[in-house]
Amino acid sequence: MGDTDKTNASAYCNYNDVFLLYDKNRQPNGLTELLDILSQTGPAETLTVLEGGFGTGAYLNILQHHVKAMYGVEGSEQGLAAARQKIGDTGNVRLALGNILGLDFRENFFDAYTVNQVLHHLDTSLDFPNLTLFLKEAWRTLKPGGSLIINTCSQEQLHPLTGVYWSYAYMDAAAARIAARYVPIETLTRKMTDLGFMDIKHIVPSGRLFEERYYSDPSLVLEPHFQSSDSIFCLSSPKEIEQADERIRAGMEDGSVYEQMKRSMGKAQEIGEAVMISARKSRDKD
Ligand SMILES: C[S@@+](CC[C@H](N)C(=O)[O-])C[C@H]1O[C@@H](n2cnc3c(N)ncnc32)[C@H](O)[C@@H]1O
Repeated sequence: MGDTDKTNASAYCNYNDVFLLYDKNRQPNGLTELLDILSQTGPAETLTVLEGGFGTGAYLNILQHHVKAMYGVEGSEQGLAAARQKIGDTGNVRLALGNILGLDFRENFFDAYTVNQVLHHLDTSLDFPNLTLFLKEAWRTLKPGGSLIINTCSQEQLHPLTGVYWSYAYMDAAAARIAARYVPIETLTRKMTDLGFMDIKHIVPSGRLFEERYYSDPSLVLEPHFQSSDSIFCLSSPKEIEQADERIRAGMEDGSVYEQMKRSMGKAQEIGEAVMISARKSRDKD
């Protein structure tokens, strides 16, 4: 199912393969909170909004009905094609293939800019230089007073044993690798503050990230279509995936996997499955 000659922006996942089955396995969590933040930015129907790295358009498809103009920039051709197919050719949506590290929009253009589960794809280096480029582009293209809304995960949520994703317990080496791709929330907020973003808020988004079956049926994680939609598998060798599969099967046989699922879901109830950070571009600084 490889489609490797198409454009792809992630630093390590080939999303042109992933998107063939992405919608089946994922849910757009935090939509309610995202809409809330948009309405605090201004009357939603007056807003010009950008989504960066929109994937197959799960968020955009909803947001478009609330705002005046919806723009999207996505790094994968397959994602763009899937979103276009889903959304159709509606008047207020403009989607483009592009890179959020260098946006093709003039300064002070957007009332709000959102990225959902994208930041961990920007960098392979631990000092997150591309994250800084992304934030600078957000600053440049947002209007003064505009909102930046980021959906990502904390290190606590990603912890293989005590975090919120039960399957990470069965692939702890890869879980450590993926956690390293996620900027720690304190580093992210410091970088935002350094650039002049203000009114920074941390919100626990409601809803779940994976399809409902992930939370009740561990055999889902053994299925290739599920494995293709979780970035942790992009960072695992075939041998590691085989070992994880074996460990999950053993856990299903002795029942321990259900204990792990219960623990992880309990933790998710406490701290959520993701973190949403919102901030404003100050009105008095360019
Ligand atoms: C985990 S997916 C999330 C997709 C979508 N936001 C969602 O939550 O359903 C990450 C997305 O970010 C996109 N992406 C990664 N780096 C990018 C970049 N530098 N510019 C544009 N898109 C990028 C990938 O192509 C992929 O669609």
